[in-house]
Amino acid sequence: MSFTSDPIDTERLSENATGLTRAAALLSKGALVAFPTETVYGLGADARQGEAVAAIYAAKGRPAFNPLIVHVADTVSAKAFVEWAHVAQQLADAFWPGPLTLVLPLRPSHGISSLVTAGLDTLAIRVPAHPVAQALLRSFGGPIAAPSANPSGRISPTTAEHVAAGLEGRIAAILDGGPCDVGLESTIIGFEGAQAVMLREGGVSAEQIEQVLGQALRTQADTTISAPGQLLSHYAPRGAVRLNATQAREGEHLLGFGEISGALTLSAKGDLAEAAANLFGHLHKLDALGGAIAVAPIPMTGLGRAINDRLTRAAAPRG
Ligand code: TXA
Ligand code: MG
Repeated sequence: MSFTSDPIDTERLSENATGLTRAAALLSKGALVAFPTETVYGLGADARQGEAVAAIYAAKGRPAFNPLIVHVADTVSAKAFVEWAHVAQQLADAFWPGPLTLVLPLRPSHGISSLVTAGLDTLAIRVPAHPVAQALLRSFGGPIAAPSANPSGRISPTTAEHVAAGLEGRIAAILDGGPCDVGLESTIIGFEGAQAVMLREGGVSAEQIEQVLGQALRTQADTTISAPGQLLSHYAPRGAVRLNATQAREGEHLLGFGEISGALTLSAKGDLAEAAANLFGHLHKLDALGGAIAVAPIPMTGLGRAINDRLTRAAAPRG
């Protein structure tokens, strides 16, 4: 993808009735609107308009053929697009609205652009909890396809300012709903029959899901999709990233956790939810200082696994 098209004037919209009406109108005419969810800001387009969806790929400079998540207002709306099953119902009851995405078979006559699914016969769908996302979905009245609202391969945005820094001039509007609470993308769960499969760690932990289902999650050993979340060097700051650091070396800024305090600290009290909420924002801030980033060890429990997954990608050799 190239960024050669002329810059457009990116509107900043507030989370009031005027802003929401404008955002919905822009989506209806096929324009791109960044909006807040409880996980990260999404770059939204009408999931039924192929050209609008194509514009997402262009604005992000995203490698083609990576499928997108569709956002809907509630479970009833989700059922119009995907084949439903008992396991899906259990997870939707427990975690929707919230930071969980379910990958389910598409229904006939679903109306979703094939650019959203990258030609797959399944759809990744979620019901976000953020009140501004909910209000936008209801005002728009249709499915919104949205990846994270950042240029491909860069840190995910958790504020409207992050979105503007990456995509100003390339998208029609940014709907500002303040900082995101969860700060990590949604957990993605697929199914092999009634067996749930962890496709991406995220805002709902594996333990929480296993508790609801009463079954161990399978992890995907090998995947047929080359997803950006699965590319090794993803979520990358400009500078180098070094993990499991106890102190900063020359030219590094330390990102602390727990007992190890840094230039910025993810959670001084060692709370993984607080750390997740701060992760991308702190990486953005340290990256803006220039130089490299050293990160304190984060435990591999609960949300810690998703945090370590993002950090490992941020630290991976750049391709
Ligand atoms: O929290 C989130 O999930 C955010 C907010 C905006 O909702 N969205 C997000 O989207 O993280 P994105 O595009 O950055 O990540 C979508 C992931 C990709 O790894 C993609 O491969 C996977 O979802 N995905 C989408 N459709 C899929 C499908 N049919 N089967 C398997 N994986 C799929
Ligand atoms: Mg992303």
